[in-house]
Amino acid sequence: MTYTDQKSKRYTVTSALPYANGPVHIGHLAGVYVPADIYARYLRSAGEEVLFIGGSDEHGVPITIKARKEGVTPQDIVDRYHTIIRDSFKEFGISFDIYSRTSSPLHHETASAFFKKLYDEGKFIEKVSLQYYDEEVHQFLADRYITGTCPHCGNENAYGDQCEKCDKPYEVTDLINPKSALSGSKPVLKESKHWFLPLDKNEEWLRQWILEGHKDDWKSNVYGQCKSWIDAGLQPRAVTRDLDWGVRVPVEGAEGKVLYVWFDAPIGYISFTRQACGDDWEKWWKDHDTKLVHFIGKDNIVFHCIIFPAMLKAEGSYIMPANVPANEFLNLEGNKISTSRNWAVWLHEYLRDFPGKQDVLRYTLCSNAPETKDNDFTWKDFQLKNNSELVAILGNFVNRTLVLTHKFYGGSVPAASLDSWTETEREAAADIATYPERIGRSIETYRFREALAELMNLARLGNKYLTDTEPWKLVKTDAARTAASLNLSLQICANLAILCEPFMPFTAEKMRRMLCMQQQGWHTAGSTTLMAEGTQLGTPELLFEKIEDAAIDAQMQRLEQIKQQNELNNWQPAAVKPLVSFDDFGKVDIRVGTVLECTKVPKADKLLQFKIEDGMGTRTIVSGIAKFYPDPQALVGRQVCFIANFAPRKLKGVESQGMILSAEDRDGRLVLLSPSDVVTAGCSVG
Ligand code: MF3
Ligand code: ZN
Repeated sequence: MTYTDQKSKRYTVTSALPYANGPVHIGHLAGVYVPADIYARYLRSAGEEVLFIGGSDEHGVPITIKARKEGVTPQDIVDRYHTIIRDSFKEFGISFDIYSRTSSPLHHETASAFFKKLYDEGKFIEKVSLQYYDEEVHQFLADRYITGTCPHCGNENAYGDQCEKCDKPYEVTDLINPKSALSGSKPVLKESKHWFLPLDKNEEWLRQWILEGHKDDWKSNVYGQCKSWIDAGLQPRAVTRDLDWGVRVPVEGAEGKVLYVWFDAPIGYISFTRQACGDDWEKWWKDHDTKLVHFIGKDNIVFHCIIFPAMLKAEGSYIMPANVPANEFLNLEGNKISTSRNWAVWLHEYLRDFPGKQDVLRYTLCSNAPETKDNDFTWKDFQLKNNSELVAILGNFVNRTLVLTHKFYGGSVPAASLDSWTETEREAAADIATYPERIGRSIETYRFREALAELMNLARLGNKYLTDTEPWKLVKTDAARTAASLNLSLQICANLAILCEPFMPFTAEKMRRMLCMQQQGWHTAGSTTLMAEGTQLGTPELLFEKIEDAAIDAQMQRLEQIKQQNELNNWQPAAVKPLVSFDDFGKVDIRVGTVLECTKVPKADKLLQFKIEDGMGTRTIVSGIAKFYPDPQALVGRQVCFIANFAPRKLKGVESQGMILSAEDRDGRLVLLSPSDVVTAGCSVG
């Protein structure tokens, strides 16, 4: 039973299918999988019938681009990442009822049949249209094979099918300065036959269904994006592509064509349901008492709110999503998360670096989820949330309660006769009773941060109650009150064990073990008689442990290294300085000299002191390259280039009579310039 929705009989909960071209990172988790998992776990706990669907999106151009780069097949790529993604989700406790993949035969068959039905019923427009073609590699350029400048926002890295900056609609032919991602060349337009979904004919019902019907219950970011698409006027959208990786277009005259990845992928939700349920699958998609909810990130809104619903509508027998609670984006340490720039915290690496700490990340990501605006993940905040919330509030309360019960009662739940209750207990009990509904309502309305904050308020209530009643003092004077205090504290622990399960399932299990509780449903919570008198408790274990600075520093260092690597990769030569005349250049007297001596300048880590044979005698030159030449002695005998008429200046007490030339590499390393053959000392360079 839920608090806000009395009519739905069952819930189909989908989570966006991650592309199998890279592992899953904290942005995916905070945006999609953590909230979806909380929702599904909560509904199950509330006794609802739920099907929670996930799987890998294994088609689309990013995968073929990656395969090409690595010289392997697309199947190799998806096999590698599907395995990593599936296993890391499992270890992280994402409780999918099925996690499948779109390269499976059942998916191909389902997507193909879906297309065929629409095709046979004349639901598509068949059109010969102009597509970009790369004449160097003899290939049509679909979607991400084309990059260019977005006609709406000027983003220079927009793709053929999507601008990730503004997400506004356009035709591939609207892109400014189109470029082939395969050869970098300018593509030409060539005719090709494709099938289009007439989105334009869907405008009216979409307007009614979303803009009028869901003004109040859809999130404003979702509603706003839908409105802007619909108001801009919907255009027919091609659902086939000239590619050889994907679901073949099952009609004659479509050789070398596959379904557009955004046509086949959402059908994955349906094919995975068939895989999970066999013949009994249809109730999850066709019964009007089923509530369909899509969890996605904001870049997926148009596909789940407009295009997929238009496909389902054209098919005719499906229900529409009841809600699409899309999240905004999570940044990492102030910068946009990026798979290609490796700017991410990868789930499989987190699980390796912080074993057993799934719930700490689940907690941090939920309490910081980008529900209404983009948000930032920082390692410092992660540490703070663990140490001062999970350890200090929730963990501390549960631990104190259990340790005291073991100390005073040998671990057996003490009796609590209502006679020993005072106003404090009565108030606390009344308050406890309100939590299941408060948290439940927040979850049902997709306010997961608020729900988690309420859960922590219950832990705070427990902590305060225990601190206020001081059973460690009462035990000397008042046996009945001591029993009442620890009994009620244990009841609060039991409530926490039930109510924290959707958010922190591993912690919930630990608590149930310590409290010797069976798994209990949401609606048993709120009571202060969950723990029966005389129940023998298990050994207390710490729920959370402090995260030390060293662990956080290691993560920060890793990010720092990635940042430096990215800077190197993005290095560009400096802009050329203003022109100089031949005469100006002639004023600089550059010569070759031979190194006679080379030593470190005392008390200056950066400086080397050279004695140079310059053909006329010797001169001293000081140069700031000590860091790059740790063995100055080895430079003796080398020839170097230097400016002979550089005004002398004193460096650390040594007069430098010239300047030795070196090149500065992209990483800041200085490298001496020497002639490629031995020349006579003192000769000119020019
Ligand atoms: N792979 C897509 C992404 O990561 C999401 C696909 S969701 C589905 O953005 F509905 F198409 F499956
Ligand atoms: Zn744009």
